Amino acid sequence: MAINPPVDATSTKAWAALHQHFDDMQRQGIDLRAWFAKDPQRTEKLSFELGDLYIDLSKNLIQPETLSLLAQLGREVGLEERIEAMFNGEHINNTEDRAVLHTALRRPEEDRGRLIVDGQDVVGDVRDTLKRIYAFADQVRSGSWTGLTGKRITTVVNIGIGGSDLGPVMAYEALKPYADAGISARYISNIDPNDLAEKTRDLDPETTLFIIVSKTFTTLETLTNARQARAWLLKSLGERGLLSKDGEDLSAEAIRRHFIAVSTALDKVRDFGIDPDNVFGFWNWVGGRYSVDSAVGTSLAITIGPERFEEFLKGFNTVDRYFRATPLDRNVVALMGLLNVWYVNFFGAHSHAVLPYDQYLHRFPAYLQQLTMESNGKSVRWDGTPVTSLTGEIFWGEPGTNGQHAFYQLIHQGTRLIPADFIAFANTPNPAKDGDQDVHELFLANFLAQTKALAFGKTADEVRAEGTPEAIVPARVFTGNRPTTSIFGDALTPAALGELIALYEHITLTEGTVWGIDSFDQWGVELGKKLAREITPAISRDDQALAEQDQSTKSLIAFYRAHR
Ligand code: F6P
Repeated sequence: MAINPPVDATSTKAWAALHQHFDDMQRQGIDLRAWFAKDPQRTEKLSFELGDLYIDLSKNLIQPETLSLLAQLGREVGLEERIEAMFNGEHINNTEDRAVLHTALRRPEEDRGRLIVDGQDVVGDVRDTLKRIYAFADQVRSGSWTGLTGKRITTVVNIGIGGSDLGPVMAYEALKPYADAGISARYISNIDPNDLAEKTRDLDPETTLFIIVSKTFTTLETLTNARQARAWLLKSLGERGLLSKDGEDLSAEAIRRHFIAVSTALDKVRDFGIDPDNVFGFWNWVGGRYSVDSAVGTSLAITIGPERFEEFLKGFNTVDRYFRATPLDRNVVALMGLLNVWYVNFFGAHSHAVLPYDQYLHRFPAYLQQLTMESNGKSVRWDGTPVTSLTGEIFWGEPGTNGQHAFYQLIHQGTRLIPADFIAFANTPNPAKDGDQDVHELFLANFLAQTKALAFGKTADEVRAEGTPEAIVPARVFTGNRPTTSIFGDALTPAALGELIALYEHITLTEGTVWGIDSFDQWGVELGKKLAREITPAISRDDQALAEQDQSTKSLIAFYRAHR
């Protein structure tokens, strides 16, 4: 079924009303100190509960009516219809003519048979695959699945890139405290041989299981690394004299015991030599960057176990149901997406910082970069027409407090407006005391202090009152009015992580809908891949291929040839 053409957000009534509202705000002066002083209920009005998360929007450059106008914008661009279309499996990824059904990956068992798309019982297939993954994970965890020599698996190595790496590694790092079966995970993604070399250096081949994860099973990096890993395994086992028994070559059996795969392209996996019994599938309606909760998360299911993985899925599902059912005016998920539009298109913000105050979330900003930027970094709309506004802000960040001692200076006192999401949790799995001081409280005080300083700043008079010499007063003033959203949770549990990921997935859809973008294709990564294939022979072998290159590429290759 053809999807509706995008609505041009910039020609809606709500856009014009938002412009007026923005101009009024500028004229009257944006002043979070005054806004908080004037309205003692401001935080109450602008904060929300979402599953296990408490989300405070009150330190943003908004008034309660801003959210109403943004919700109106959502309605006028057809956000509610697009959300429904996504959940119902319409082909909203129209440039690839695909449904977008990552939300089906986390629907419960009782939803079997309730979502038939293109003739497929989507939830039924998801649950069947999960059962197989869980059975396999249990075998590895219990030690009934062993390596070639009968030893238990102690390390799983995920080989994948993009969505087949960033989601699993982020989630594994985030949920490390739940890895309770004595099995750790490593992630190899880069085709740079240094990555594989470092990650296999101290590995024991007898206790390692490789998981080759590639939706297409054609990705150059992943297949190259998979072949390298296969060679490494056979060489290392061979060096220990373990690859033959009574004259029989055990190489194929070694690959069967030490390699499994996750892919939508089952035929290609078979060609690689991996036993079809050890392949977990997913479907073309799961985008790579939306796939951590599919079979792509097998490394996670093995390390944290099926029960925890189910909790992870439940977290996603909590947010999905909320996002689908909550009217836009009160829908914090949609509102956070619309708020990003407010900053990008009205304030001209170019980037958005994501600052987790939890060391376990140290890969979360990198994960979000693919999710948001591969989704919304586009300049044509889903009907092929040019976008009518700025799109796709740059997401970046580092865990607090490390970022505080690196780039926060620019956020506090620079000339750019950088909206920032702060993410923190009330409880830590590693409580610690420094004398009488609870170290986690010290940490949380920093999260609170930063959002406070950014919002309310420090006036020249306050700086003077501290006895600062007049000449350096300007340098020590903080303007404040730098917007932040605080996302506070009880603890970084599997469910809370699922909620957090689903929150950002739907923020991405919301922004994309306003901009008229197909947030689920990624044509912009194709050209570089094709050129890399063409350039490879030119680098050292093929002078004809070299001659066909542009002058800059030729001279870079000449440098390489002179220095290799
Ligand atoms: O970077 C492009 C991309 O297609 C991503 O969208 C995807 O997550 C990644 O490559 C890996 O693809 P695959 O899982 O097919 O190997």
